[in-house]
Amino acid sequence: MTVHFIGAGPGAPDLITLRGRDLIASSPVCLYAGSLVPAALLDHCPPGAWIVNTAPLTLDEIVAIIREAHEAGHDIARLHSGDLSVWSAMGEQIRRLKAFNIPYSITPGVPSFAAAAAALEVELTLPELGQSLVLTRTPGRASSMPPGENLPAFAATGATLAIHLSIHNLAKIVADLIPHYGPDCPAAVIWRASWPDQRIVRATLATIEEAAAHGPERTAIILVGPVLDNGDFAESSLYAPGYDRRFRPSGTDSQFIGKE
Ligand SMILES: C[S@@+](CC[C@H](N)C(=O)[O-])C[C@H]1O[C@@H](n2cnc3c(N)ncnc32)[C@H](O)[C@@H]1O
Repeated sequence: MTVHFIGAGPGAPDLITLRGRDLIASSPVCLYAGSLVPAALLDHCPPGAWIVNTAPLTLDEIVAIIREAHEAGHDIARLHSGDLSVWSAMGEQIRRLKAFNIPYSITPGVPSFAAAAAALEVELTLPELGQSLVLTRTPGRASSMPPGENLPAFAATGATLAIHLSIHNLAKIVADLIPHYGPDCPAAVIWRASWPDQRIVRATLATIEEAAAHGPERTAIILVGPVLDNGDFAESSLYAPGYDRRFRPSGTDSQFIGKE
């Protein structure tokens, strides 16, 4: 019996891996974080599956259900939104499972920042404009930030920012970022990327607050950085005709001739 942690993707029910779908289909128990996981994914559960929405439960209650299913010898599909590597609460569940010697597996999913970038039709790293992406958040009621992990510190690098769980802090975010990126830096808010009610606002740091003023108060990513204004950037060397590379030696004097 195994607990299969599965990244359920950002919202559209077909943005799940084939492995994730098949594990849901073969597990007689499914625990899902109902606040963000699309209900349509539950259609993959086998007939008669025990399906539990864990949104209103405590960690102790969730672990009690897992232990009960484990003792009955049932595999469990454990669904969390997006990918499991960020803000999924998988870490604390795994710690408990290890303590009880309950086996588990991990199947990644499409993270919400990737769905937000797709909705905007942008690449978040562009030659010379931005080569780093910071996935971050601002402090929340239940979560403080470790010392040193603050927006001005990340902004000082000029990296592209994908700010999660923070739409309610937009005014403070703008105030923290303008001194580093300037008022004209492109910014966007993407609510519920890939859901049918997805919503997008594109603006600049100076105008994003007003532009996003009437949007929903949750489930949004704030993207900031020069890469969002994707008209004017250099092409990558990788596909330039004269660039010497292992898979496309540039001439008879290429350092890669004769190499695998
Ligand atoms: C608890 S975190 C889950 C993150 C998730 N594990 C991931 O890989 O994206 C919830 C936050 O992720 C972001 N989020 C999740 N789904 C989203 C979506 N479809 N569109 C925009 N933001 C989303 C929002 O910032 C939301 O407040």
